Amino acid sequence: MSIHIGADSGQIAPYVLMPGDPLRAKWIAEHYLEDAKLYSDVRNMFGYTGTYKGLEVSVQGSGMGMPSFAIYGTELFNDFGVQTIVRVGSCGALNTDVKLRDVILASGACTDSGMNRLRFEGVDFAPIADFELLRTAYDVAAANKMPTHVGNILSSDSFYNDRAELTTRLTEYGVLAVEMEAAALYTLAAKYGRKALAICTVSDHVITGEATSSQEREQSFSDMIEVALETVLT
Ligand code: HPA
Repeated sequence: MSIHIGADSGQIAPYVLMPGDPLRAKWIAEHYLEDAKLYSDVRNMFGYTGTYKGLEVSVQGSGMGMPSFAIYGTELFNDFGVQTIVRVGSCGALNTDVKLRDVILASGACTDSGMNRLRFEGVDFAPIADFELLRTAYDVAAANKMPTHVGNILSSDSFYNDRAELTTRLTEYGVLAVEMEAAALYTLAAKYGRKALAICTVSDHVITGEATSSQEREQSFSDMIEVALETVLT
């Protein structure tokens, strides 16, 4: 048991997929894992362990934003010895070459978060993905002909903000999309010497204002889960 995860040691697999939404964790467990068992429902932030093609895999909701993500990520790495976390989430596109439903593999995550500024006392730490996971995920997505982009994203503390000029500048500097968790994941993986990757599907377009329907979100979410599971299996 850790403070926020009601599991016994050994109930969580070395490989964990983390969607923001705990109901997505349930959905992944029910649709993709065999013999999935709920190991925690503390705060309704569900976590399940089951098997995928014989490999033990867990799925744990993270909640939205870096403070919430960091609680679960820290406890998974520190209290449960988790070796690999793959975030499976959604993002808003910041680049017109990126289309709705495309998959983004975040090689790096810029952040406006105060968390890293406090942690590194003003030094701008660069949170990056594990290269092997990134390469494997890219190969899996390419083999399945999924429209995939690899590059920098922004992990922001705010979903709603008044920073149109900053957003434009980030686009000019090649930042592909915005979400709210990857920088915390990559920083924690660096702290604990573990592996991490954030995979996001584009749910909305910050520049064009387009958004996916709930049916499209479900389909693109499925594509992403398959990439994530095949990546940890490889
Ligand atoms: N901003 C932040 N996080 C997001 C967005 C967004 O536009 N879309 C999906 N996650």
